Amino acid sequence: MDPKEIIAKLQLLTGQFAEELQKQSTEQAIRDLQAAFLSKKGKIGELQKSLGQLSPDQRKDVGQAFNTAKQAITQSVADAIDGLVKRAEDVYLSEYFDVTLPGRAGAKGSMHPISIVMYDIVDVFTSMGFDVAQGPEVETDEFNFAKLNFPDDHPARDMQDTLFVEEGKILLRTHMSPVQIRSMMARPLPIQIVAPGAVFRRDDDPTHSPMFFQIEGLLVDKGVHFGHLKGVLNTFIHQIFGADVQMRVRPSFFPFTEPSVEVDIQCIYCKGEGCRLCSQTGWIEILGAGMVDPNVLEGVGIDSEIYSGFAFGLGVDRVAMLKYEGISSIKLFYENDPRFLERFRR
Ligand code: DAH
Repeated sequence: MDPKEIIAKLQLLTGQFAEELQKQSTEQAIRDLQAAFLSKKGKIGELQKSLGQLSPDQRKDVGQAFNTAKQAITQSVADAIDGLVKRAEDVYLSEYFDVTLPGRAGAKGSMHPISIVMYDIVDVFTSMGFDVAQGPEVETDEFNFAKLNFPDDHPARDMQDTLFVEEGKILLRTHMSPVQIRSMMARPLPIQIVAPGAVFRRDDDPTHSPMFFQIEGLLVDKGVHFGHLKGVLNTFIHQIFGADVQMRVRPSFFPFTEPSVEVDIQCIYCKGEGCRLCSQTGWIEILGAGMVDPNVLEGVGIDSEIYSGFAFGLGVDRVAMLKYEGISSIKLFYENDPRFLERFRR
């Protein structure tokens, strides 16, 4: 045979191999087919023996053609076996798993009850024209106490209540009232803000958490009087607890307001009849308020002869516990047990 004839035969055998390979359905059959062509006694193996009759020059070229053909066959064998494995996996998966079944949905998150109530309350005030103001959680004694007219020896400054970062100077704010001071110093008059946020105290029992939430309100303008304060609080109470819920105002004391009051709502469980929740009084305290003390206004450079204002502060946790019945401890709000939080999804 001359070189051309050998190469033509080689091409024929390669084509034949490819055709046969298509028909094989097991790894063993593929390996047998490979041996039938490539082994010494195989079809291509036998053909390769005819190289012996060629001159060294011719042998080099034709030998090259054999190497290329054998490499191609080896590669196609590997690909065919890979394909078989892949198909076997697909069959396995479709037998053991129903790929048409819907997936299992992950648990959906929801808003925290404190956030829900906080947004609801803030909405009521923004709809009355209040702007939302903010301040830092780490405060100075100056803003948290001094500028709010707390005397130097006021018990609220005591280590019992206040968490100090630097004793007597830097602290975690114990209430949202410092945002009143910050707002009066930073904003032009008139001022009408609400400030929602976290506050901190050294308290830790079923009804007290060392961190809880308050909303502070402040309105300063010419001619602001106690009637305005009552009107705003009445609207808030009706929007949050219901139009039929009565409120009452009792005299109280806060260093930064004069006069100061505490505001109660008619017990929303017994409607004023007297029950365990309201300690048989028919009323539940929900916030502190009053007319901004002239000392506080003067302290931030506002002329108290021209301007007056009212302020109020309420506990968000308190409102949340009243709105959602049967919460035994304020702590539940801060443990973040998903079984508890689940209840408030909406
Ligand atoms: N800052 C007071 C507290 O945390 C709450 C408060 C009472 C705020 C009366 C006020 C107010 O603005 O007028 O106990």
